[in-house]
Amino acid sequence: MTNETVILEARNLLVLRGKREVLNIERFSLGKNEVVALVGANGTGKSTLLQALALLLHPAQGVVEFYGQKADNSNVLAFRRRMAFVFQEPLLLNTTVFDNVAAGLKIRGFPRREIPHRVGYWLEQLGISSLAGRHAHLLSGGEARRVSLARAFALEPEVLFLDEPFSALDFLTRIGLLEKLGELLSATGISAVFVTHDFFEVPFLTDRITVLKQGRLVKTGSFEEVFKIKPRRETFATSLYRIFQSE
Ligand SMILES: Nc1ncnc2c1ncn2[C@@H]1O[C@H](COP(=O)(O)OP(=O)(O)OP(=O)(O)O)[C@@H](O)[C@H]1O
Ligand SMILES: [Mg+2]
Repeated sequence: MTNETVILEARNLLVLRGKREVLNIERFSLGKNEVVALVGANGTGKSTLLQALALLLHPAQGVVEFYGQKADNSNVLAFRRRMAFVFQEPLLLNTTVFDNVAAGLKIRGFPRREIPHRVGYWLEQLGISSLAGRHAHLLSGGEARRVSLARAFALEPEVLFLDEPFSALDFLTRIGLLEKLGELLSATGISAVFVTHDFFEVPFLTDRITVLKQGRLVKTGSFEEVFKIKPRRETFATSLYRIFQSE
């Protein structure tokens, strides 16, 4: 793992909602192959920061740089095409699972002949090949989450933004998906920013944490530096999960 190359950097970022300042970030950066967990209480600006980094909103002030180049109207679409976003709600299209995963590739001009292979590969990675022909609106919550992850990974982005992708899932589904996501992130080396409320999720994906409080970055560092305890993936709950899986 190397963090020498900075992929994404935000500086002096100010975001207003109405006249209210909801985000005021001096500096945030993401290295190549790095995964950062963004944690903080409700309403503290996590989704707003994620959207600003993903170039989905215009800050009132400040810059976001992608590989050292300042994002502006001339390059924002090209930069966005190198990123993928998994929203808190899966936001699936009213069509099959296959077409949902293929849709982003079509929009990005991926060669049509290669789409079935790419989609098939990522459905398999997420363990949902058997759902390919199913209608996305009839899926369970956990299935829909897998589809939205497959859709994002199929784009093979350089940066992946994940906004609480596992909230409201049952515990066993959540652990299974966290383990899968951890494997995929380390196998692909995709850089990612991951928002969560649940600190226990963090060690599955990364050791880097940034804490937001009322729109400001108050802490950043390793799990141990931030929480003063060692991160542990194996907990009472994950042990129970393994027993349940092996039965
Ligand atoms: N579209 C909007 N219009 C007005 N205010 C907004 C809008 N979106 C967010 N806000 C406000 O901005 C602040 C930050 O919201 P944000 O969604 O970034 O928080 P969050 O940390 O993601 O919270 P949560 O954990 O609940 O998802 C909140 O006070 C919220 O009410
Ligand atoms: Mg949010």
